[in-house]
Amino acid sequence: MNSAPPPDTSVIPVHVAIVMDGNGRWAEERKKPRLLGHKAGVKSVRTVVETAREIGVKHLTLYAFSTENWARPSLEVKGLMSLLDSYLKSERKTMLKNDIRLKCIGQRKRLPPDVRKTMDWVIDATDQCSAMTLNLALSYGSRSEIVRAARQLAGQCVDGRLNVDELDDQKLSNHLYTAGQPDPDMFIRTGGEKRLSNFLLWQVSYAELYFTDIKWPDFGRDQFLEAVADFADRQRRFGKTGSQLSKE
Ligand code: FPP
Repeated sequence: MNSAPPPDTSVIPVHVAIVMDGNGRWAEERKKPRLLGHKAGVKSVRTVVETAREIGVKHLTLYAFSTENWARPSLEVKGLMSLLDSYLKSERKTMLKNDIRLKCIGQRKRLPPDVRKTMDWVIDATDQCSAMTLNLALSYGSRSEIVRAARQLAGQCVDGRLNVDELDDQKLSNHLYTAGQPDPDMFIRTGGEKRLSNFLLWQVSYAELYFTDIKWPDFGRDQFLEAVADFADRQRRFGKTGSQLSKE
């Protein structure tokens, strides 16, 4: 791990969520196949995971594959699954060394069996790691996550295990894939688009949003630290006024 102190990062977000966009365009600009952009994107994944761990981020959630991404050309889908499989195999040791716990959020059952097996192998191995949790969002969609939680809670109400009047934000949060983890403080999207794309819609309610034109393969240590420094400059009011906060 890089031991140099990071600049301007006096306020570190506890949970950072990232939409890693722009791999395809990065490759197309270079007249290369899109998969080469994803391959270059894996390098950024390594760098950002390492930097986040180094500066003390406790939860990092990366949008690696959405439920909508299954509709991409099958060669691209296969290539992405294979990149994911090799990333997991190669990173297991580093995750253990850096005390990083791996979690997968999304529709696990839709993933190819070999990828699921590798994923479980790393999830089990890193189960006791506690310095940082790395959530990989795979076959993930936020609306279906919320519907799934609503179904589970409705089932409990029907069985009489839960009273409808007891339903609140916390109970719904407890049925999301991210249950037990704090909501993201910061949402980063690379690649120039300014939208949420069905990513953690419930959880980012109070997150600071950060959009950059830099495409994911070009998003490295310096760019991540710059985003975190920008976060440190924001005043998070959670609905209160600035003067109320200064009196707290
Ligand atoms: C969006 O870029 C990115 C993805 C759909 C996949 C992200 C995957 C990686 C970064 C590599 C594999 C992940 C891990 C965790 C090892 P895009 O293809 O939509 O880009 P575009 O908008 O330029 O077309």
